[in-house]
Amino acid sequence: MTASLFDEPPQPLRTPLLLEPGAMVLPGFAQDRAPALLQAVAGIAARAPFRHLVTPGGLRMSVAMTHCGTLGWVSDRSGYRYSPVDPHTGQPWPAMPGCFAELAHQAAAAAGYAAFAPDACLINRYAPGARMSLHQDRDEHDMAHPIVSVSLGLPASFLWGGAARADKARRIPLLHGDVVVWGGPVRLHFHGVQPLAEGTHPLAGACRINLTFRRAG
Ligand code: SIN
Ligand code: FE2
Repeated sequence: MTASLFDEPPQPLRTPLLLEPGAMVLPGFAQDRAPALLQAVAGIAARAPFRHLVTPGGLRMSVAMTHCGTLGWVSDRSGYRYSPVDPHTGQPWPAMPGCFAELAHQAAAAAGYAAFAPDACLINRYAPGARMSLHQDRDEHDMAHPIVSVSLGLPASFLWGGAARADKARRIPLLHGDVVVWGGPVRLHFHGVQPLAEGTHPLAGACRINLTFRRAG
């Protein structure tokens, strides 16, 4: 007997979702190119290894991070900033692969942001249990540029909050290949990721990879 419709887990929506003016979820936008993206991540991590940053407050982040592009985001006890050099290797960050820049540009355009040309890509790796607490992306030079965030591997529950930290956050399920774009009036909205559930993804293994594209400099 086939499972009844009612036995299936709730299906996340698969059509573009306007979270609010300025913020959009593009389900599956990156799905076809995910294998190439993951392969490129492995190449980047071979040169700029994933590491757990320490926040200015002295806490080790549960998410492991690396970067590509002309600028990478670094954190230590003196604060957060962008740097052209990987403090781990003393070398420039690996160049941003063409397939990364192209995807970011296309996703931004699909969400209404023309001519987005990122110079930085933060690569976050979540193991089960890893999370990202509510925060703003506010270290970039010019807030006129949007953020493009690509989900690969295990599913996550994304938190989309408001202009103030205390604003109630919505939980948005993000699957392999989904892209979220936000900018304009909501560029500085708080957002985060709930602790990743256990699991294994056929392409990514026991992790979630998030690519966050920015115009930082
Ligand atoms: C971030 O806000 O930097 C990451 C968001 C995500 O992992 O989806
Ligand atoms: Fe962020």
